[in-house]
Amino acid sequence: MRRIGRKPQIASMQLSDPTPLITMPVIPVVTIERAADAVPLARALLAGGLSVVEITLRTPAALEAVRAIIAEVEDIIVGVGTVVKPLDVTHAIDAGADFLVSPGTPINLAQALADAPVPALPGCATVSEAMTLAALGFPVLKLFPAEPAGGVRWLNAVIEPLPDIRFCPTGGVNGDNAASYLALRNVLAVGGSWVAPPAAIAAGDFAGITARARVAAALRH
Ligand code: 3PG
Repeated sequence: MRRIGRKPQIASMQLSDPTPLITMPVIPVVTIERAADAVPLARALLAGGLSVVEITLRTPAALEAVRAIIAEVEDIIVGVGTVVKPLDVTHAIDAGADFLVSPGTPINLAQALADAPVPALPGCATVSEAMTLAALGFPVLKLFPAEPAGGVRWLNAVIEPLPDIRFCPTGGVNGDNAASYLALRNVLAVGGSWVAPPAAIAAGDFAGITARARVAAALRH
């Protein structure tokens, strides 16, 4: 066999695959201003049948919210989102995150996510980014921001060229268009803030959150 000039084989890598944790059609993306809202919020989602939540690292209360949910609410999978730098990975893991989500994925962040003890949904918005992340061991990617990036048409167009990659589109996904995303075979779940928007949390409208969670949980997975 001709070996001259061959590169050494890359050692087989471990997959960072969140699929077993994403058992719901919708991942509610939640931004918490007051840590005290975290537990009632998680209970409201569970009451509607949604047993997964992504808490974004966009507020000073975020990590305390994650800790509170993990300590007090059983049976809910807690992702930490808006992870933008390696230090965020450290903080999220220390708080007990079950999985990590990034809006985009520079190479140093991809490395930190790959090294983390829990799986990740790294963000991408282009075909090249998706291919790079898949090659680094991430078989499920967040497409963000989904609607501006091309939405359902983008995802439909990559089914054949990227048959092994699945996506969780987020950003502009809502109760009106979620079903058309979920109808695509390369969509594992969708994410979005419409189930538990900041205004509903601020107003203490947990009944409304439960009602929207119930509709979201009933979507096809
Ligand atoms: C995210 O971080 O995934 C988005 O901010 C959620 O997008 P949406 O508010 O448009 O649902």
